[in-house]
Amino acid sequence: MSETIALLPGDGVGPEVMRAAAGVLARVRPDVTCEEALVGGAALERGLPALPDATRALCERSAAILFGSVGLPQYEGKPLERRPELALFLLRRDFELFANIRPVRVFPGLEDASSLRPELVTGLDLIVVRELTGGIYYGKPKEQRTVEGVDEAVDTMIYRAPEVERIARIGFELARGRRKRLTSVDKQNILETSRLWRRVVDDVARDYPEVALEHLLVDNAAMQLVRRPGDFDVIVTENMFGDILSDEAAILTGSIGTLPSASLGARGRPGRQFGLYEPVAGSAPDIAGKGIANPTAAILSAAMLLRYSLDDEASAARIERAVEGVYRDGGRTAELARGAKVLSTKAFAGEVAARL
Ligand code: IPM
Ligand code: MG
Repeated sequence: MSETIALLPGDGVGPEVMRAAAGVLARVRPDVTCEEALVGGAALERGLPALPDATRALCERSAAILFGSVGLPQYEGKPLERRPELALFLLRRDFELFANIRPVRVFPGLEDASSLRPELVTGLDLIVVRELTGGIYYGKPKEQRTVEGVDEAVDTMIYRAPEVERIARIGFELARGRRKRLTSVDKQNILETSRLWRRVVDDVARDYPEVALEHLLVDNAAMQLVRRPGDFDVIVTENMFGDILSDEAAILTGSIGTLPSASLGARGRPGRQFGLYEPVAGSAPDIAGKGIANPTAAILSAAMLLRYSLDDEASAARIERAVEGVYRDGGRTAELARGAKVLSTKAFAGEVAARL
C-alpha cells in the first residue's frame, strides 16, 4: 500500500534540508509518495495564508508531515496572525500534536564540537518531551490592549489535569524503555500551573514504580543540563520550558542542526501515529540558499517519521546508522568542519545515501 507524506519545506534553509531528507527517504522507501505544499513565509509571500487550505487538506489525507522550517526576517515584529510561525501553531493545535519528542544525542566523533568539555558530553543520549498544545502558547486571553490609556499585553498560562497526565505518560513510557529515569521540570515555587503539573506527574508515577522520578525547578534544570548532562535520560516539561530547554539541550551536541523532532498526538495507534516531523533548528535565513545547512536534523526527522508513523523501525534504524557512519568517518558540514573538509548539504545527504 502506497503511503502519502506531506512535504512542507517552508522558509530559509527548510527547502534545502527537506530536499536532502526526501532523497534519503525515497532511497529507503521508494514506495512512499511525497507531496509538496506551501507553508509559512513561502505561502505568505505568494499572498496566501501561512497555512493555506490546500496544505491543510494535504496534511489531512497524509500519513505524516515532514516539515522544514518557518520564519523570515521580514515578518519580525508582526502579530502572530501574519507571521510564518502561525502555520506551526495551527498545525500543532488542529492536529492535536501534544507530544513533542526531541532526542538529543552526541554522535561519536562530534564530542569536540560541543561548547562543553568532551568528557561531559561523550555518549550523551537524552530525550526532551515537551508538551506542545497547551500552556502559555495557547491560553486565552492572549492579546495586546490599552487599559486606561496604558498599553499592556497578556499571555495566559493554563493547564488542565488531563493535558498534564497524557504528556506525563509519554515521558514515563519512554523512560521505561530506556534508562528508567524521568526528570519533570516545573516552577512550582511560583506557578499554580506547576503545582498542578507536579501533583499530576506524581499521581501518574504510581503506575510506573520501575521509573525513578525526579522533579527539578526550571532554572535549576537549565543549570544541571550544562553541569551534568549525562545524568539525564528523559525530561518532561510544559510547552515554553520545553521550548527553551530543548534548544539548550540541542546545542550540547555542538550543532543544533543535528536535532530532529517528532510531534505526535492522539491520531492513529503505536507505530502508525499521525505526526509532524521537523528539525529543532529554525529557518536560519542567514545561510539559506547557500547549500551549506546541515541536513542531519531533517534526515533524522524522516527516520523518526518511519518509526512512529509508518511502523518501519528497520528503515529508521538504517538511516540513523548511516548518519552515524558519516560522522564517524569525519563527514562534516560547514558549522562543524573546523578545518576539516566541508560537505555541502547535498554532499552530506549523498554520503548518508551511500551508506544505506
Ligand atoms: C520550536 C520553535 C517554535 C516554538 C517557533 C518557531 C514557533 O522555536 O519548535 O521550538 O516556539 O515552538
Ligand atoms: Mg524552539
